[in-house]
Amino acid sequence: MDNIIIRKGGTEDAQDFSQLILLSAATFFPSIFASNTEEIMRKIFQQPGNLFSFEHSYFIEVNNKIAGMALGYNWEQKRREELYTGLLLVKYLKWSFITRIFYLFKARGIVGKISENEYYLSNIAVYPEFRALGLGTKLFSEIKRESDKTGANKIVLDVETNNKRAIKLYEKLGYIIKWKTPSIKIKKETFEFFRMLKVLEQDNKST
Ligand SMILES: CC(C)(COP(=O)(O)OP(=O)(O)OC[C@H]1O[C@@H](n2cnc3c(N)ncnc32)[C@H](O)[C@@H]1OP(=O)(O)O)[C@@H](O)C(=O)NCCC(=O)NCCS
Repeated sequence: MDNIIIRKGGTEDAQDFSQLILLSAATFFPSIFASNTEEIMRKIFQQPGNLFSFEHSYFIEVNNKIAGMALGYNWEQKRREELYTGLLLVKYLKWSFITRIFYLFKARGIVGKISENEYYLSNIAVYPEFRALGLGTKLFSEIKRESDKTGANKIVLDVETNNKRAIKLYEKLGYIIKWKTPSIKIKKETFEFFRMLKVLEQDNKST
């Protein structure tokens, strides 16, 4: 029988984090961060106090092998850490920041918006060989537990409108589409997202 555990991330998970976060936004992140997305993500993950930090990550392991990851934070953490996250991105993008700043601001204007009392599921991914085994669903349960702890009353996320498989899963888990973002064009690619949300019932918060 498989031994499945979910645990908080640590700096030693940087390699898996950088691969999994890339899987979660396979075209969008490289469009924003350029070709060295993995390297930037590996570095920023190891720093505390930012929105891509190991502090906000959860990993699911099957028989001691990492199979997937979720990254999430609440409205207060976002407010506290957004500026430092930007500064770290400037540091790691180095000179290419100048060519990327326009896209970063564009992206910031349409995804990742969080209102008071909301918890944001920023990224989720399972390695292809581990998909359709219920692991994504388990990661969602963990995110829900974590959001309960932070006092949030809603979980929100942004999903690309063409990611049918993920949308189907989120709907099954009780998320509803709230709005469609304006499209964002980055070089040749155009992106648009659904904002999805799930209201956490006060008397049903631990399920
Ligand atoms: C979305 C993702 C995290 C789900 O993880 P998972 O471990 O496969 O999810 P689960 O096994 O818990 O859920 C499976 C559900 O996903 C859908 N699904 C799973 N495999 C599928 C397949 N081969 N084809 C279509 N839908 C599939 C179904 O809705 C399924 O529900 P069901 O079991 O009732 O049929 C995973 O597919 C993934 O990493 N995708 C790439 C990254 C990504 O898109 N991230 C989300 C960005 S917002």
